[in-house]
Amino acid sequence: MRLSERVAWITGSAQGLGEALAYRFAEEGCRALLLTDIQVEAIQQVAQAVHEHHPACQTLGRVCDVRDEAQVAQVVNEAVQQFGALDILIANAGVIQSAEITEMSLSDWQWQMEVNLTGYFLCAREAARVMKPQGRGVILQINSKSGLKGSYKNCAYAASKFGGIGLTQSIAMDLAPYGIRVNAICPGNLLDSPMWQGTLFEQYARKWGLPEEAIRKYYEAQVPLGRGCTYTDVANLAVFLASDEASYITGEAYRVAGGQL
Ligand SMILES: NC(=O)c1ccc[n+]([C@@H]2O[C@H](COP(=O)([O-])OP(=O)(O)OC[C@H]3O[C@@H](n4cnc5c(N)ncnc54)[C@H](O)[C@@H]3O)[C@@H](O)[C@H]2O)c1
Repeated sequence: MRLSERVAWITGSAQGLGEALAYRFAEEGCRALLLTDIQVEAIQQVAQAVHEHHPACQTLGRVCDVRDEAQVAQVVNEAVQQFGALDILIANAGVIQSAEITEMSLSDWQWQMEVNLTGYFLCAREAARVMKPQGRGVILQINSKSGLKGSYKNCAYAASKFGGIGLTQSIAMDLAPYGIRVNAICPGNLLDSPMWQGTLFEQYARKWGLPEEAIRKYYEAQVPLGRGCTYTDVANLAVFLASDEASYITGEAYRVAGGQL
């Protein structure tokens, strides 16, 4: 219960890591969660299911494209009206489309920059506008190990995530005087996530010229601790960074990648 009485907003929480973080933050005592995504039905279902599992935690499931300035402002206003505060933002929404630079279309480049970087900026800005007068708050970006080291045939994703580190470090300085901490978490490969199951195994089989079945072993072999990253690995750090135990930590980016660099 290290997050008791907190109000948290998790973007991209209709599935995958964001959904897992919603359950964990409810379990850790959050009194309310704003859960947003572009998936209209799934976000309602997740909001309802989290509340059913943790009845003490109120949930508000809303459609919000993190690229849309007006939608971002609207959901934050609604949540603050309903819950009276916003203590934590987890900027989790993210997309990936792998391609070698000569094959990378401008639209795929822009899509990844807009969701992963501009979306983080818009959500952090809106959250900070609420947190500043409160005199407290925590912003966490779900970044990636590809935000700290270049990634083969992933130039747009890596560039957008490197940008997120610059944004994190800079706004940590802007917001420190107001008691708001800003940090990034850089997970390794979440091999059981929908992002991998749905598209990355296939994209990476093409990228490395390997059969799809060989990809998991190939990626596991690059991790000194010998396995893929799990939602729990990431959530453990997210809870710590969001809690008062991390009250002297801001402007940092932490890898959760089993020793992989
Ligand atoms: N899966 C991995 O291996 C991995 C590794 C490192 C970092 N990450 C990062 O973790 C975060 C979550 O990834 P995941 O694996 O859960 O992926 P995912 O694809 O399962 O979930 C991403 C969610 O974001 C939503 N989304 C997409 N575009 C959006 C938009 N414009 N506005 C709002 N929501 C949008 C999707 O609908 C989806 O629900 C991402 O930022 C990703 O870059 C993932």
